[in-house]
Amino acid sequence: MKVVLLGYMGVGKSTLGRLLAKTFDLRFIDLDAYIESKEQLTIPEVFQKKGEIYFRKAESLALHEIISKEDNFVLSLGGGTPVYGNNMQNIMEAPGVASVYLKLNIQTLVDRLFLQREFRPLISHYEDKNEFEEFVRKHLFERQQFYFMADHVLDLSGKNASDSLEDLIQVMN
Ligand code: S3P
Repeated sequence: MKVVLLGYMGVGKSTLGRLLAKTFDLRFIDLDAYIESKEQLTIPEVFQKKGEIYFRKAESLALHEIISKEDNFVLSLGGGTPVYGNNMQNIMEAPGVASVYLKLNIQTLVDRLFLQREFRPLISHYEDKNEFEEFVRKHLFERQQFYFMADHVLDLSGKNASDSLEDLIQVMN
C-alpha cells in the first residue's frame, strides 16, 4: 500500500498518517521531517536561511525520491506540496499510489492553526486573529483546486483520531 495524505496546514496529516502506518505496519514518512533530516535544518531555518524557493525545490525533490523509490509507505505532505511544480501530477501518475485530501471545516482549522502557528513560517507572523482568518480563507480557497485532484476526499470535521482513522481506512477500500 502506498498512501499520500495531503491537505492544508493543521488538518492532522502527520497524526493520521502515523496512525494509519502503525495499523498496517507500513513505513511512515513525514515529508517535512524528511527534508529537515536531509538539510540538517528545521523547516523555519530552511525558510529563513535559504528562502522559500529553495524549500519548494527541496520539497519537490524529496517527494520524487520517495514516490519513485520507496516500496510501501504512508506519506504525509506539507500543506503546500500539492500546489507547486508538477508535484500533484507526479503523485497522480505514480503507480499504485492512493492520495487522500484531508479536509476540515474552516472555523476549526482557523482556531486550531492560530494556536499552532509558531513553527509555520508562512503564518507565524500573524498576531491579529481576524487578519489571520482572512489569510487562511483566501489561501485555502486558492489551494483547494489542487487538493481536490486527490483520489479521495475525507472530511474530518468533528471527528476524533480513532473515527478519522476508521473513515480513512474505509475511504481507501
Ligand atoms: C507549508 C506547510 C508546512 C511546511 C511549510 C510550508 C505550506 O507543513 O511544509 O511550513 O506551504 O502550507 P504542514 O502542512 O505540515 O504544516
